[in-house]
Amino acid sequence: MSATRKPMIAGNWKMHHTHLEAIQVVQKLSYRLDGDDYEAVEVVVCPAFTALRSVQTTIDSDRIPIALGAQNVYPEPQGAFTGEVSPGMLAKLNVSYVIVGHSERREILGDTDDLVARKLRAVLGAGMRPIVCCGETLDERESGAAEEKVAGQIRAAYHGLKAADAEQTVVAYEPIWAIGTGRNATPDDANTMCGLVRATLREIVGSVAEGIRVLYGGSVKPGNIAELMAEPEVDGGLVGGASLDPDDFARIVQYRRSK
Ligand code: PGA
Repeated sequence: MSATRKPMIAGNWKMHHTHLEAIQVVQKLSYRLDGDDYEAVEVVVCPAFTALRSVQTTIDSDRIPIALGAQNVYPEPQGAFTGEVSPGMLAKLNVSYVIVGHSERREILGDTDDLVARKLRAVLGAGMRPIVCCGETLDERESGAAEEKVAGQIRAAYHGLKAADAEQTVVAYEPIWAIGTGRNATPDDANTMCGLVRATLREIVGSVAEGIRVLYGGSVKPGNIAELMAEPEVDGGLVGGASLDPDDFARIVQYRRSK
């Protein structure tokens, strides 16, 4: 955590929670968080597409200062793309953030570096902010190729992007071997890799890299978030499993209290 970048805790609900469950989770979360929490941390939830409208109306009508995020987007404004959702459709729902290039989309659903770069630009073009995911596999980590993989993903996504656009983005470093496995990176490793992401961004977009938040993701829990956040290069967390439960997610947002 740095003094200048506001920490972000973002919940990635993946393919969980119907719209009815999502409303309940966001309401429960709002009972547990207070003004000090929102001042200290930007809180984001990323429900499935089917729950976005319900969560949006809950947030708006109860004036809950939680930002709405989506988990994916298709990088065309409209057209014959059966099953896909456009940036404009998300922007109309007051979606502020869109996750792009999550490893599950890269590994299971075929998102390439090129598609991720197009999604990133399409999200910016619609006035939203991408959360750009990167991260290495266990094989890549064990063979010493983690840095090369992650720097390559960042270069592919940001190449040619204007500094003013890059400034709107957030990065999430998520080692694939840590996602959903209960095995998180050590705070030191997370710090090193988030620092590498920032150094790579600096090469591409210059000094605005200092203001871009780099989150860590992969088995973030109430019990490990404080030590991760104590690292200077870790600006927040992208939380999967532990964001599904409002109690756990609130405790993660309130990591400062557990110190
Ligand atoms: P996890 O997922 O917290 O369940 O490991 C993180 C993510 O995939 O964003």
